[in-house]
Amino acid sequence: MDAARRDTTMDANDWDTRYRLAREAQGGRPGRLWSAVPAQIVQDTVTPWAPGRALDLATGDGRNAIWLAARGWNVTAVDFSAEAIGQAAEHARESGVAVDWQVGDATTWAPSGETFDLVTVIYLHLQEDALRAVLSRAAEWLSPGGHLLVLGHDRTNIGTGAPGPADPGILYTPELLRSAVDPSRIVRCETIRRDLATDPEAPGDGAGYALDTLLIATA
Ligand SMILES: C[S@@+](CC[C@H](N)C(=O)[O-])C[C@H]1O[C@@H](n2cnc3c(N)ncnc32)[C@H](O)[C@@H]1O
Repeated sequence: MDAARRDTTMDANDWDTRYRLAREAQGGRPGRLWSAVPAQIVQDTVTPWAPGRALDLATGDGRNAIWLAARGWNVTAVDFSAEAIGQAAEHARESGVAVDWQVGDATTWAPSGETFDLVTVIYLHLQEDALRAVLSRAAEWLSPGGHLLVLGHDRTNIGTGAPGPADPGILYTPELLRSAVDPSRIVRCETIRRDLATDPEAPGDGAGYALDTLLIATA
C-alpha cells in the first residue's frame, strides 16, 4: 500500500488528499483506495457471530462497516478523514445500507455511553504508544461477550516485498497487540499470511503474500 508507506507523516489533511485523488480517478464518483470487501480473515472471523452493535475505528472508505451493515450489524464508523467518511457514506447509499458515519480521531474519539458487541480496528497504523492506547480504550467499550478484532501489517511484512508501511515504528507485532489488552481476554494473537492474489488489501496488489498481525480479544 503506497499510501501507508508515508503513514508516519500522514495527518487527516494528507488522508483527505489521498481519498480526494481516488475520487478524481473515478471521475468524481466515490473511489476505492482499498478492496471493496474486508480482508478474508475479518470475514471468516465475524461471519459466525450473531449481528449486534459494531464500531469500525479508522473505517476509511467504509468496506468493513458496509460489509457488517449488510449482514445486519448496527454499525458506527469513525475516521478522521472527512473525505473518506463522505465517500464511505456514498458507497453505503449505493449498497442500500445505513451506517452511523462519524468524523473523529481514533486517539480521542469516544462513544457517548454505548457499548459494542464488536469493535474492528483494521490497518490503523500509529506510533506504538498511540496504538496501544487506542486498543486499550476500545477494549473497554465492549459489551459482555463482545469482541475486539484488530488487523494490521506485521513488522515482518517489510521482508516480503508486499505493499505496506516501511516504517517499523508503525508496524504491528503480536507482542505489541498483546500488550494493549488484558492477556486473559485474548482468543488469538499471531502473525498470519494473506494471499494477495485472493485477498488483496488494495486494487492491483497482485500475486504473492503479505504478513499481517491479528488480534481477537473478548470483553
Ligand atoms: C489503511 S486505511 C484503512 C481503512 C480501513 N480500516 C480499511 O481496512 O479499509 C487507514 C485509515 O486510518 C485512518 N486514520 C489514520 N489515523 C487516524 C486517526 N488518528 N483517527 C482516525 N482515523 C485515522 C485514515 O484516514 C485511513 O482512512
